[in-house]
Amino acid sequence: MNQSSVRPQSLNKVEICGLYKVYEETSSEAALDSISDRHVLTDLNFAVPARSFTCFLGPSGCGKSTLLRIIAGFDTPSRGEVLVDGDPVCGPNPKHIFVFQEDGLFPWFTAYENIELGIRNLKDSQKRHELVLEYLEMVGLKGFGGYYPHELSGGMRRRAEVARALIANPDILFMDEPFGALDFVTRLQMREEMLNVHAMFPTTILFITHDIDEAIQLADQIVLFTERPTSVKEVLSLGYPHPRDFTKGDLAVLRRHIYRTMGVHAAL
Ligand SMILES: Nc1ncnc2c1ncn2[C@@H]1O[C@H](COP(=O)(O)OP(=O)(O)OP(=O)(O)O)[C@@H](O)[C@H]1O
Ligand SMILES: [Mg+2]
Repeated sequence: MNQSSVRPQSLNKVEICGLYKVYEETSSEAALDSISDRHVLTDLNFAVPARSFTCFLGPSGCGKSTLLRIIAGFDTPSRGEVLVDGDPVCGPNPKHIFVFQEDGLFPWFTAYENIELGIRNLKDSQKRHELVLEYLEMVGLKGFGGYYPHELSGGMRRRAEVARALIANPDILFMDEPFGALDFVTRLQMREEMLNVHAMFPTTILFITHDIDEAIQLADQIVLFTERPTSVKEVLSLGYPHPRDFTKGDLAVLRRHIYRTMGVHAAL
């Protein structure tokens, strides 16, 4: 075997190396070194362990969605690079699946048909059918496959979207405030679902949220960002078992620390 083609297996799925993003008409080197109001991301360096659940927390407008788009290959950095499995990201990858905050289901397809889209390249129709039923059940939508999106609640539509993303067997799942529009109780239910799903399918998940408690309950790792021009304030590892009670012990201390770091001092 050609030794030069053997790459050591990285424990990191994603590596962010000296990454800058400046929204300039012409993104010159000079623009990168002078801080302006178009300067969004500044010298980001961190890694995302393979199969981890990593949450991004930071002030509104700091560039979390921009960073997610860059990692997914939909946007390019002004300087620096993103490595996935040790290789530079050059563009979108069909195994990198996005779930956004907004409804992403096709309204003219049923829940079943929307989920089936995730495996449209699978030739065996019986296998496709079995998989769709399995994923409908997994996200708690058994019996609702024939419903159109407008006949489902907001939480059910999210579940269908999560199922459509998971059935595609994503290498990396990108979630940009996926539960932001849901009511409080449904959000809590979706958190539980996500933990179950991640235990069953330990893929790498990059998850943006504004909800500190959500991040503490879900994440193996939390990346905290500063205000713009945005850098990484802290990378926190959370090696705690689930389910997590953040009202007690180390997690309560960690929760207070994150709230204070994000400038919230009251009501703790
Ligand atoms: N195409 C663009 N051209 C110019 N500026 C942009 C563009 N896209 C994003 N921005 C700016 O980059 C900054 C970061 O935007 P982004 O949407 O990534 O922030 P965010 O952290 O996801 O915010 P939120 O938490 O509110 O979703 C914003 O100030 C935004 O105005
Ligand atoms: Mg955003």
